[in-house]
Amino acid sequence: MNKNLVSLMEKMTLDEKIGQLIQLATPFYMGATDRGQITGPMVGMGIDDNVVLNSGSVLGASGANEVINIQQQHLKENRLGIPLLFMSDVVHGYKTIFPVPLAIGCSWDLELAEKSAEIAAYEAAVSGVHVTFAPMVDLVRDPRWGRVMESTGEDSYLNSQFAKAQVRGFQGTDMTKDHKRVASCVKHFAAYGAPEGGRDYNTVNMSERELRETYLPAYKAALNAGSEMVMTAFNTVDGIPATGNKQLMRDLLRDEWNFDGVIISDWGAVKELIPHGIASDEKEAALKAIKAGVDIEMMTACYVKNLKELINNGDIDEGLINESVLRILQLKQKLGLFDNPYRGADARLEQEVVMSDAHRQVSRELATKSIVLLKNEAILPLHKHQKFALIGPFASSNDILGPWSGLGSKDDAITMNEGLRTKLGDSHLLVAKGCDVETRTDSQLNEALLAAKDADVIVLALGEDSEMSGEAGSLTDIRLPQVQLDLIKKLKELGKPIVTVLFNGRPLDLHGVIEHSDAVVEAWYPGTEGGVAIADLLFGDVNPSGKLTMSFPDSVGQVPVYYNHFNTGRPKGAPDAQERYISQYLDSPNEPLFPFGYGLGYTTYTYNNMRLSATEMTAEKPITLTVTVKNTGSKAGVETVQFYIRDLVGEVVRPLKELKGFKKVHLQPNEEKEISFTISEKQLRYHHSNLEFSSDSGKFIAYIGPNSRDVQAIPFELLK
Ligand code: GLC
Repeated sequence: MNKNLVSLMEKMTLDEKIGQLIQLATPFYMGATDRGQITGPMVGMGIDDNVVLNSGSVLGASGANEVINIQQQHLKENRLGIPLLFMSDVVHGYKTIFPVPLAIGCSWDLELAEKSAEIAAYEAAVSGVHVTFAPMVDLVRDPRWGRVMESTGEDSYLNSQFAKAQVRGFQGTDMTKDHKRVASCVKHFAAYGAPEGGRDYNTVNMSERELRETYLPAYKAALNAGSEMVMTAFNTVDGIPATGNKQLMRDLLRDEWNFDGVIISDWGAVKELIPHGIASDEKEAALKAIKAGVDIEMMTACYVKNLKELINNGDIDEGLINESVLRILQLKQKLGLFDNPYRGADARLEQEVVMSDAHRQVSRELATKSIVLLKNEAILPLHKHQKFALIGPFASSNDILGPWSGLGSKDDAITMNEGLRTKLGDSHLLVAKGCDVETRTDSQLNEALLAAKDADVIVLALGEDSEMSGEAGSLTDIRLPQVQLDLIKKLKELGKPIVTVLFNGRPLDLHGVIEHSDAVVEAWYPGTEGGVAIADLLFGDVNPSGKLTMSFPDSVGQVPVYYNHFNTGRPKGAPDAQERYISQYLDSPNEPLFPFGYGLGYTTYTYNNMRLSATEMTAEKPITLTVTVKNTGSKAGVETVQFYIRDLVGEVVRPLKELKGFKKVHLQPNEEKEISFTISEKQLRYHHSNLEFSSDSGKFIAYIGPNSRDVQAIPFELLK
């Protein structure tokens, strides 16, 4: 630990040290121009302005001028001149908004994901932000949960790759010098994406083995990539709220993983230990959280109101406070704040950098790669000489940034209407809403039918309002709103081709859409450049390459449904399977409508000549899996070749498939390339019943294909 920081801390009073452990939102700093005032928020929280002037960090500041003003005021009042840390939710862009992370995941493009994080960091840093509350790496398998849009999907290997890419993009290699970067805070630790019933903030129940095998790898990957902070989750983990869970933070994060960065609670999560039922009051909540390892309490005041008494009563040692203070001071030093408390904040540069054309171009490119073509019956790409009726609640909607779009403004978003006009001009495009997201008037419907009658092709823009996903956006019914299903059926009666574009933050039950559409394009929330990116794809200027990273269930009744599931003792489809007494539904297939890794394009690929360098391997002697991929269509394209493994017999049951690698390959028409993957013993390791992470000798199957379903298989053996 840096001696200067220790000597600084030794100068601090106990109140000043405890002040470092609270994070308050900007209104606490804006109101009190002269320090006698108690602003509204302080009254509500029961704190006085001494807490504010001793506080350690600010939540949600936006704009260089605002940050500079708050910091200037603070440095005047803070006795030792300790600068504030400014933290914000820069999740998929600061003001130039990129597609939501679930869409970015579908790009399978780690370099572009890293680039988008770098741009987000730059725009945030010149606007005065020091830390972003990202990446969110919670693994998700339940589309009822509104925050699936914030994750990169259902696979821990892929989520781990994206976690590393985002941390690299946010932080770069030297945040102290590089003031175009920000520190990252990986969240939400841990397993927030597995709430029972898909209901936000609900109980998470799983074994420690499942937690380590499936849910923890992406957090570990973010920390291995150097993420400076961790945010605790709202949920319980094995009966103990994450924010008061010593096993999770001190035993695992600190002692086992050697994480020495700052741990911050989620908003109000320290005080929520009371309704959770492991604390009887704010004092006990403070005791449990500080003992469990939370350094900063976000937006509640259990620490500032109780830690002093807990120390004076001997309930906790002041050393616990000192540890947290030093970690926070260390982060401030790492960000260079003691040398320059304004760091990257620069109002002039902000004007130049934020929302620059270059940044918007990257957002457009990432959007075209994140959009997934789910169905195409020879209708796409469209031809500009045709006449189009653009119909639906998202035809001219700018609600396409999605939740957690930070400082992004919908006014900057390019709508589908604008995007199509860039390709068509005005003469070939009729636009009518047909309905709103959840309501409809007869005149809306009639207007749409009129427009459709005059068109060659109907382009439907349907979806969810962005408030229908995101935090606290859980749904039990994941179909589109009925008025939209009615609209598509009505339009279908006209007998014209229908291309449906979806704007949504979760996998949907697409019955009522898929059968009536000649093509279905999953656009998610595509970000600031969404309208032009979609137009690029619809007219073939870009060949779709997106692949799903979260399964689309056939219906919500299947949930959770995911590709890397276990076989069960009575697998449906087994050679000796009985008619009835097997693991199946009487009213639904077992398989999702669209599986993990699925996505179409405007060309076709063949996978041939799959082969192994040897059929037996050892820890010392890995083997190589190779396949020849050929573009057999008429358009150049990018194929994401996916490599899966199955461990046929384990000490515990093993998934039918696990993604172990992927490669994006660009192929011209008729071009073919050999794609190879190394199979190493490390990739075959898993958590055994005693939690030992190791591999077993035995038989395996390697799979290769364009998605997790349509694969070719080849056996091999690991010898010990
Ligand atoms: C929210 C979210 C968290 C976010 C925090 C600060 O409740 O759960 O992801 O970073 O508050 O806005």
